[in-house]
Amino acid sequence: MYENIKYEVKDQIAFVTVDRPKALNALNEDVLSELYKAFSQFECDDDARVAILTGEGKAFVAGADIAAMSKMNALEGRNMMILGHKLMNYMEAIEKPIIAAVNGFALGGGCELSMACDFRLASTKAKFGQPEVGLGIIPGFGGTQRLPRLVGKGMAKYLTMTAEIIGADEAYRIGLCEKVFEPEELLPEAEKIAKAIIQKAPIAVGSAKVAINNGYDMDLKSASRFEIETFTAAFGSDDKAEGMGAFLEKRPAEFKNK
Ligand code: CAA
Repeated sequence: MYENIKYEVKDQIAFVTVDRPKALNALNEDVLSELYKAFSQFECDDDARVAILTGEGKAFVAGADIAAMSKMNALEGRNMMILGHKLMNYMEAIEKPIIAAVNGFALGGGCELSMACDFRLASTKAKFGQPEVGLGIIPGFGGTQRLPRLVGKGMAKYLTMTAEIIGADEAYRIGLCEKVFEPEELLPEAEKIAKAIIQKAPIAVGSAKVAINNGYDMDLKSASRFEIETFTAAFGSDDKAEGMGAFLEKRPAEFKNK
């Protein structure tokens, strides 16, 4: 079904692995389309509650495919960027968590792909950066927008203008990743975190993503109003009755995603 990625669901976790290690998992149009398809599969699968996105081999994703882009005219390049934006906006809109397990190079489009995930766990071998200006272009899969939202405008400009590649500790320091693990611990720890999320109420987890992602780009007054409406939808769920009932009865909650 897929040629450039792997998709597997195990214990309610969808593992999405970019699997093009010969090109350090670089994103061409086929990879972008397959990722879009895999996340559609994840969105529609009630048995998959959290996705973990990672890369095969020594890279997470080393960027958009430079060999493919080198042959494109401006219109073709634009179309490819639209495809990337479509994928990354879609990942943000899916009402289930997507965790980036950044195992190695996350450069250019790879850093951008990780930023479209809900949070980033990094191996000590991870390298982050936006090296596009060295290729005569600028980030085109949302890097000029998501990077400043995560690390602030000054640091985003510093990284983008210098094209500096940073390690996991520096990425953690500036807020570009949320946790750092030894390489062999990355996937087991990502799985543990996914399982912890799976224990929680699914509608509430999804609503939190929707409230944060949508509210973040609104003014505070509109975002507060949006939070109230999103809160109310979760408050009306059977899982709210179960969660609060279980607390009061001093027993573990059994959520039904209703
Ligand atoms: N696109 C296409 N092929 C890539 C690639 C990319 N982004 N990154 C690596 N590869 C290929 C290499 O060309 C090489 O292929 P061959 O074996 O056929 O020569 C193979 O992957 C292995 O790469 P290296 O030999 O370069 O591996 P290395 O360990 O010496 O270096 C690296 C690793 C530092 C990540 C280096 O590969 C590199 O700098 N890659 C490019 C990173 C980059 O500039 N990314 C941004 C792309 S532009 C972009 O992403 C635009 C956007 O915003 C959408």
